[in-house]
Amino acid sequence: MKNIRRILSYLKRYKKYAILAPITVSIEVLLEIWIPYLMADIIDVGIANKDSNYVIRIGALMVLAAIVSLVFGVLSGRFAALAATGLSRNLRRAMFNKIQDFSFSNTDHFSTPSLITRMTTDMNFVQMTVMMIVRMLIRGPLMMIAATIMTFRINSELAVIYLIAIPFLAGMIAFIFSKAHGYFIQMFKKYDKLNGSIQENLIGIRVVKSFVRRDHEDEKFIKSATDVMETSMHAERYVTLNGPVMMLTVNICIIALLWFGGKRIIVGNMQAGELISFINYTNQILIQLMMISMVMVNLVISRESVARILEVLDEKLDLTDDKADKALFPSNGDVRFDHVSFNYSSRKDSSDTTLTDIDLDIPSGSMVGVIGGTGSGKSTFVQLIPRLYDVTKGSVKVGGHDVREYTLKNLRNSVAIVLQKNVLFSGTIKENLRWGNENATDEEIIAACKSARAHDFIMSFPDGYDTELTQGGTNVSGGQKQRLCIARALLKNPKVMILDDSTSAVDTATEAAIRTALRDHYKDITTIIIAQRITSVMDADKIIVLDEGRVNGFGTHEELMKTNEIYREVYESQQKGAE
Ligand SMILES: Nc1ncnc2c1ncn2[C@@H]1O[C@H](COP(=O)(O)OP(=O)(O)OP(=O)(O)O)[C@@H](O)[C@H]1O
Ligand SMILES: [Mg+2]
Repeated sequence: MKNIRRILSYLKRYKKYAILAPITVSIEVLLEIWIPYLMADIIDVGIANKDSNYVIRIGALMVLAAIVSLVFGVLSGRFAALAATGLSRNLRRAMFNKIQDFSFSNTDHFSTPSLITRMTTDMNFVQMTVMMIVRMLIRGPLMMIAATIMTFRINSELAVIYLIAIPFLAGMIAFIFSKAHGYFIQMFKKYDKLNGSIQENLIGIRVVKSFVRRDHEDEKFIKSATDVMETSMHAERYVTLNGPVMMLTVNICIIALLWFGGKRIIVGNMQAGELISFINYTNQILIQLMMISMVMVNLVISRESVARILEVLDEKLDLTDDKADKALFPSNGDVRFDHVSFNYSSRKDSSDTTLTDIDLDIPSGSMVGVIGGTGSGKSTFVQLIPRLYDVTKGSVKVGGHDVREYTLKNLRNSVAIVLQKNVLFSGTIKENLRWGNENATDEEIIAACKSARAHDFIMSFPDGYDTELTQGGTNVSGGQKQRLCIARALLKNPKVMILDDSTSAVDTATEAAIRTALRDHYKDITTIIIAQRITSVMDADKIIVLDEGRVNGFGTHEELMKTNEIYREVYESQQKGAE
């Protein structure tokens, strides 16, 4: 209940619709209740007295009531939809904003597919439930109360039939849904899994195809889909009982009404029209009972979705810069690691750290290479510099200050990183490059692309810099994409430039040219280059050798060749490979 109230607080400027909807519904209900009453009058007064004027007058009133009730019905539906969609717009926006502030480890905590499911499937469900609540939860009880009052006014003895029918039906509905409820919850969990499988396959469709994993993936998918089907079948088996039970009860009620009411009419205690409107009210009461039960079921099921949405909104951000000095900017590209240890939060409990006691100094303007086996912690090491993750122990300093003293904006504007898994966004090449610097002039863009050796291939496209990239940049080659990412980072005009395996798909000659360009045109920038090939880093000022999260060696190529066993071995094996 507290959760629901919290969700509803996101209504904000759509609140008026959430209030207008029940009001218009109430008017609709009152008119709807009035109609059978008028009908009874037509039969019992107009027809009985053969007074056609009366019939026409009351008939016209009925039509008017029906039209006005229709108008208010349409209005209430519209208001309910506005309230529900407005709420979900605000909620989605709040979630999106929150996720934008997520650190890498916050995102790790949820996983991307789960975040997408929460923003789509769960959100839709909550939206639907809110719409139902706003409309039905007022309409149902109001209709039932009004209809019951009317029937008691017509004939309180006959109305006793409800006193038996309603508790019976309510009991049946409660029984059915208590049985089905568990299956519904399960069903939604299975939907999650199905969504996950679809997402993974669509994102990885190229890999699936190239590994000819189609049959295997097909099987996996069919299994999830069948799972969903079976669980829904279980749930539906109970839910479908609802209809027949309800119809049976209604019909029994009507027979009882006809039997007892008929007797009264024969004796002259009741009129035919009264009995007809009585039966009308009966129908309405039982239908509303059914509606209320549906809303209740939805409410119970959507509790799960609400909780999943609030989980995202309540996630504690683990990277904040509230206390940082907004006016502080890194003055140079000095990078210093002071006894840094680090562990991913998902592995907090494990005793071995991903990075252990890293202590080194990278002077401003130097070019440093990082070498190490896969999983040795190279990416982790560099991600600490722009504070994509926070250190567990020790400190990382850029320009003489701890990275936590800068605002994230100031820090990240000065430290450009080309991530190992990089992405381009849909839009033109130029738009993508402007991510680095919104105000970059065409000359600056071309200069950066020339340094990144991207200019020539961009110009070879018919549309040049205005070439449209597809989502994820799938219409450029791997090496072209890497070069675009480097150019994008260069446009930031950073103090520190980090390339995490960013030239792995570029041929060695082009790679060397990029390095030379970086040296010649960006002398003041500290450049940190992670590479698999020693040739990519051997002419760097210094090279870091990482092994299982520790610095195994730190020196020039010549020094490491003499003193560092790992480095020498890697070099020799790569030389042999080359020959
Ligand atoms: N987001 C993460 N959550 C938990 N553990 C992670 C995460 N990213 C990496 N790791 C783990 O941390 C260790 C170091 O990974 P890292 O990505 O830094 O290696 P790397 O040297 O860059 O490897 P590669 O050369 O393959 O890119 C690995 O054991 C890896 O499994
Ligand atoms: Mg890596």
